[in-house]
Amino acid sequence: MKNINPSSTEAWSKLQQLATKHQTTSISSLFEQKNRFEEFSRKEEDILVDFSKNKVDGEILEALIQLADETGLKAAIDAMFSGEKINGTEGRAVLHTALRNRSEERIFVDGKDVMPEVKAVLSQMKAFADQISNGTWLGYTGKPITSLVNIGIGGSDLGPVMVTEALKPYQNPNLEIYFVSNVDGTHISETLKKVNPETTLFFIASKTFTTQETMTNAHTARDWFLDYAKDEKTVARHFVALSTNEKGVTEFGIDPKNMFAFWDWVGGRYSLWSAIGLPIACAIGFDNFEKLLSGAHSMDKHFKEAGFDQNIPVILALIGIWNTNFLGATSEAILPYDQYLHRFAAYFQQGNMESNGKYVSRDGTKVNYSTGPIIWGEPGTNGQHAFYQLIHQGTHLIPCDFIAPAISHNPTGDHHVKLLSNFFAQTEALMNGKSLEDVRSEMTKAGKSNEEIEKIAPHRVFEGNRPTNSILVKQITPYTLGQLIAMYEHKIFVQGVIWNIFSFDQWGVELGKVLANAILPELKDDDEVTSHDASTNGLVNAYKEMRN
Ligand code: F6P
Repeated sequence: MKNINPSSTEAWSKLQQLATKHQTTSISSLFEQKNRFEEFSRKEEDILVDFSKNKVDGEILEALIQLADETGLKAAIDAMFSGEKINGTEGRAVLHTALRNRSEERIFVDGKDVMPEVKAVLSQMKAFADQISNGTWLGYTGKPITSLVNIGIGGSDLGPVMVTEALKPYQNPNLEIYFVSNVDGTHISETLKKVNPETTLFFIASKTFTTQETMTNAHTARDWFLDYAKDEKTVARHFVALSTNEKGVTEFGIDPKNMFAFWDWVGGRYSLWSAIGLPIACAIGFDNFEKLLSGAHSMDKHFKEAGFDQNIPVILALIGIWNTNFLGATSEAILPYDQYLHRFAAYFQQGNMESNGKYVSRDGTKVNYSTGPIIWGEPGTNGQHAFYQLIHQGTHLIPCDFIAPAISHNPTGDHHVKLLSNFFAQTEALMNGKSLEDVRSEMTKAGKSNEEIEKIAPHRVFEGNRPTNSILVKQITPYTLGQLIAMYEHKIFVQGVIWNIFSFDQWGVELGKVLANAILPELKDDDEVTSHDASTNGLVNAYKEMRN
């Protein structure tokens, strides 16, 4: 990986000049150019990405592509796909693309082809998922499994949650699936109230098999189960592990035969394609899980092979950089117009913010430009009645991704056209806004007095000029969902390369963990605590008083 400060490139200076030049350009005025939609949208199989409602013209796009060239993006893409150790602070390859490699291509890490192992674990997952799907994996009293409980956190939770929710129409009707992540005892307790130990399968999902939250929940689940089953030998029918840590799994008491392995070159937030995806494969069937992998693989091929001006993840990344580094945006909203995608923004909150929330560049110095934005969002139309006010009329520039399927899995009455009319209307409104003249004439027509018009009209003006991408998908299927997830993953990768940061470590979550471990023993007794700053001491001592 090259080590280039993007702000020192020729393209960066050009983009700064273009941002100044276009300070007063409105996005809507760019539509005076013919064929803008055709020129500023791209289609890949059943996914259409329209980025024309951004303050971007041909010259800006060209300069952005120059930035990608100058920062060595092509070489970085090749390095990732070929298994080079691009996770520089942990000395690891980054190969979630190998997990969904549907071609016969061999992929090497340290001179060893990883594909045979990937395929072997996929076969193990298939054999297991098939038994769950067809009801032949029996609990210790001979009953088929009906409840799946995934215990994991972060990347060992969010992917399976998001995907199983997104693909609910494909879920086996004989199975219920639950996810426990929070160390708050409420999460596991409320889940255990709903399931029967005789028919429940627990997936203990943890790359490291040391994460406090997951191990605490796993032990509670195991105790609850053994309280009922009484016999240690029965654990094997009800607990499986998804992990890279065989020793930890064995020590916990799970038979290594019931362990589904993955490898250090799979990042937690990129792991749903690995053994971490086993609950997905069980819930929607292995064939559908394979379609998810195939969709992602198809996006991988597109990303690897398409020129930057045709490359959807690259273009989305460049538009994001333009909005962040040149137009001053600090957050991005992901707004799916599909109820099944209700965890999509939460999933990419980790995907994006844990990857690109870094202020130290690859050479160890502090960056002098903004890096990863704050990612947030909720499904439309709920968001419209909650936070869109600020997107339309607030003082922050919030670029938004609108995502919608053309075909609904629930074509009930006119719900879907109503939903989509909102999807189309919002991006139009955000771009065009509403002028003072229009508000005045509307109010005049409605018979309002001059006095009222003068008082109220300014509040009803929309400045517009708010950038959006529209992502229209034929239907949310396992295949198209795989494409969509891979598209965002690669967008994040491209931005990390250009920002010259390491996107595949997460040192920023360590400090809190270490301090929590230091505080935990201090909470075990009622002695006064004096070892911290005054605020922390005060809070801990107040807690000790309150609990008694
Ligand atoms: O939050 C930090 C993190 O390391 C994530 O990157 C990871 O997804 C999560 O914790 C869970 O880790 P593990 O799978 O090892 O339990």
